[in-house]
Amino acid sequence: PDFSSISSRPTIFEFEGISMINHFTENWEKVKNFQARPDDILIATYPKAGTTWVSYILDLLYFGENAPEEHTSQPIYMRVPFLESCFKVIASGTELADNMTTSPRLIKTHLPVQLIPKSFWEQNSRVVYVARNAKDNVVSYFHFDRMNIVEPDPGDWNTFLHRFMDGKSVFGPWYDHVNGYWEKKQTYSNLLYLFYEDLVEDTGREVDRLCSFLGLSTSVSDREKITKDVQFDAMKQNKMTNYSTLPVMDFKISPFMRKGKVGDWKNHFTVAQNEQFDEVYKEKMKNATVKFRTEI
Ligand code: A3P
Repeated sequence: PDFSSISSRPTIFEFEGISMINHFTENWEKVKNFQARPDDILIATYPKAGTTWVSYILDLLYFGENAPEEHTSQPIYMRVPFLESCFKVIASGTELADNMTTSPRLIKTHLPVQLIPKSFWEQNSRVVYVARNAKDNVVSYFHFDRMNIVEPDPGDWNTFLHRFMDGKSVFGPWYDHVNGYWEKKQTYSNLLYLFYEDLVEDTGREVDRLCSFLGLSTSVSDREKITKDVQFDAMKQNKMTNYSTLPVMDFKISPFMRKGKVGDWKNHFTVAQNEQFDEVYKEKMKNATVKFRTEI
């Protein structure tokens, strides 16, 4: 695809109560009225929480080694449509999803829970949510925005960090995002809530959890193979998962598969930033029951 028409960075505006950019709002009517299917699997995340990782695990679990060439020759962002995306130079997320003939459809979204098209709930589709601790999440988001021209200009680290703390990052406040899905899980049983930190700690265990949630009887040896194929280094080398085929990203600034660690925030936060962050965090999360680990 030719992305050269996207030459300037988008600006942030308020949309449906959250901060957004045009690439995720221009197809809104179609997003809102999207027709889910009962066997769809929605992969929902705050940006940079491990979306690609879980997308690839699910892709391998469902389509695996025996997938036809026309499937395996597609990069992960074509195999797993990004629901609200509308970049004009490639098919929109809804268009890609509508035209999918493989099942189940794996569909990715960063929308907060209150903006998920209602059809998913009506169809009782399964939802896999991945959450990542706020500190590593914001660091990863910063580097992503630095290298990706379809994202707003991040400014310097301190500016970016404060925008995040103010809840003005694209896709809205991290705090509400992780809490919203956590609350939803209390009443909607077809939602699995995963943590990035757990995936790093023991990928195989989380693959097992996914299999039981999805009712898959994948053999032990296939699970082991998948667990190996989705390790950071393997996915970084794999051009189907490392985003090297997407020209809007400049890996000389920062690669998509950047570090894949828990605790990299320690290399970014100053002592003062950390204290301020903790204070804001305590306030925003004072009623939250979901707990995160910032190191493992
Ligand atoms: P870092 O920037 O901290 O390295 P998303 O897919 O939601 O955009 O998230 C991207 C983040 O997940 C990046 O974090 C990326 O390196 C990390 N990631 C992707 N695949 C991974 C894997 N197999 N193991 C660990 N981290 C992974």
